[in-house]
Amino acid sequence: MARITLDGITKAFGNLQVLNSVDLDIADGEFLTLVGPSGCGKSTLLRIIAGLETQTAGDVKIDDNVVNSVRPSRRDLAMVFQSYALYPHLTVKQNLATPLQLRDMNVAERLPLIGRFMPGFKTKRAAVDAAVKDVSETLQIEHLMDRKPGQLSGGQRQRVAVGRAMVRDPAAFLMDEPLSNLDAALRVHMRAELSALHRSLGTTFVYVTHDQAEALTMSDRMAVMMDGDILQIGEPDDVYQDPKDLRVAEFVGSPKINTVPGGIDEGGRLTFLGVELARRLKVPATKGITIGLRPEHLYLSPEKDGKTFTGKLTYKENLGSEAFLYVAVNYGEDSVIVRADPVEAHDISVGDEVSIAHVPGKALIFDEDGQRLELTHPPVHEVVA
Ligand SMILES: Nc1ncnc2c1ncn2[C@@H]1O[C@H](COP(=O)(O)OP(=O)(O)OP(=O)(O)O)[C@@H](O)[C@H]1O
Ligand SMILES: [Mg+2]
Repeated sequence: MARITLDGITKAFGNLQVLNSVDLDIADGEFLTLVGPSGCGKSTLLRIIAGLETQTAGDVKIDDNVVNSVRPSRRDLAMVFQSYALYPHLTVKQNLATPLQLRDMNVAERLPLIGRFMPGFKTKRAAVDAAVKDVSETLQIEHLMDRKPGQLSGGQRQRVAVGRAMVRDPAAFLMDEPLSNLDAALRVHMRAELSALHRSLGTTFVYVTHDQAEALTMSDRMAVMMDGDILQIGEPDDVYQDPKDLRVAEFVGSPKINTVPGGIDEGGRLTFLGVELARRLKVPATKGITIGLRPEHLYLSPEKDGKTFTGKLTYKENLGSEAFLYVAVNYGEDSVIVRADPVEAHDISVGDEVSIAHVPGKALIFDEDGQRLELTHPPVHEVVA
């Protein structure tokens, strides 16, 4: 078990600054996800925690001990890589046993023929076998023990890679995109398996992914990274519902949040696409406002009035349980995605004009720097009434 704290972690590769003073406090037993687009510095940060990369400045602490100069093997952390990094010439059983043999047996004891004649070999060998058996049962890979990695499916290889990290019973697991080599269906299945494993082990997991859906579904908390900064950290629901930054709002959620230019008049009334919002800004801003509305907060309306805007259907994506309508608005300048019931969407065709309303209170407002602006609560007109 371990609490991991990062204090002002900065990293530059030559002139390229990839981490800008990152602070992060990962609780003991937490499943924390580092999520962000390719190149934002996730793997670098994870490798710094593991000790595989040295930070330019800042401290890594494990349970309040600064470990900056502690070797990776002494940090008691286990890393699972995207490539799995299994030994191709060894069986699954040998792959699982290797980390323990390296840690607990000396060079002579590890020799294939001579090792067994060393004193103490039997006890150590039995302990290794027991740990390997235990892990193989937990991961349900007992039937694969005599195979080599080349004879396994992607999901089975992934399980062996996790198993190899588990045998040492580390204080924390560091995982770098461990599911990205799997096909879509298996990825979804393995998400559930890893979550269940985390619950049963109760060990700290630090999990890197560029897939926002993985972060949303698996984590206790997710840290959204961009360009070497953590923009927001919180429970998945909070990050989704209450993004503090336009880049976070746009990164989290699929399909992406709709963004359209917002208008504001002298009286502080906010509008988008000709529709007035019920709430006003707490602190008035004047220009460059962006309104964000998620597809599930827009809906087809039978009415055409001050509460709706119209647009032309350009594409219809029917997923069976729901449909997404792509609608050109603002004379074709912008486009929004509307979630609809497939039955309701059935009668609309590409090229049709549609009327769209929004769920009150769900619009997110951002200033010209992409920072979230707070709104009055309750809506102004309710106060007046
Ligand atoms: N050893 C290195 N030398 C020079 N630059 C590097 C090195 N390792 C990483 N970088 C650069 O640092 C930046 C962050 O890389 P990193 O691998 O941490 O990104 P990432 O968020 O994990 O991306 P991805 O999702 O593609 O894996 C990138 O611009 C990358 O090119
Ligand atoms: Mg990476």
